[in-house]
Amino acid sequence: MSGDYKLNPETLQELIESLHVLFSTDKVNVEEVQSVMENYKSDEDDWDKFAKYDHHRYTRNLVDEGNGRFNLMILAWGEGQGSSIHSHSDAHCFMKVLDGTLRESLFSWPSESEKRRAMNQIGVNDYQRDQVAYINDSKGLHRVENLSHSDSACSLHLYSPPFDSCKCFDQRTGKCATSKVTFWSKYGERTPFKPGGGCQSAVVEFEQPENN
Ligand code: SIN
Repeated sequence: MSGDYKLNPETLQELIESLHVLFSTDKVNVEEVQSVMENYKSDEDDWDKFAKYDHHRYTRNLVDEGNGRFNLMILAWGEGQGSSIHSHSDAHCFMKVLDGTLRESLFSWPSESEKRRAMNQIGVNDYQRDQVAYINDSKGLHRVENLSHSDSACSLHLYSPPFDSCKCFDQRTGKCATSKVTFWSKYGERTPFKPGGGCQSAVVEFEQPENN
């Protein structure tokens, strides 16, 4: 690593500066990134301007491009909104809850021999404010949901390296489709509308699963 960073960032801006140091080389220390993200204590005043809600789906809002090494974004989850089951395109995925509670359901990759079989759920975790989850493709697939019918939720996601498509899976059959992921806003400004948007449930035609 090239330089010092704040292990206990007091603001989102300080957290971003620490992340730039932690991602200044190709080597990613998952525990260090997770600690620094956990140590920042969520403050609405820092991230409110990025949390844009949409009645129909959760939104992905770009906060920082991490010198091309990572994408940092805020996901705004309305009541009952969730992602589909999806992969992470060989990237590290860190998810810190900023507000509310998010449920992560974990699944194993469907195999060739499991064609058209219901997907195998391997775990479920509920994450509260300030907790940080980590996943990559070798750990499996996940779905993230705000199960609350009365409260929205908000989370900070770091993906390294950045990616612009992922695979989404149909829980009942294991079929998958490649889905483009886009941003609802960038740096607090609405981006021109594009269909798709995230690892949403309403995806295009599913293909047969590939072996991972
Ligand atoms: C996630 O992978 O944690 C959430 C889904 C997304 O990035 O759209």
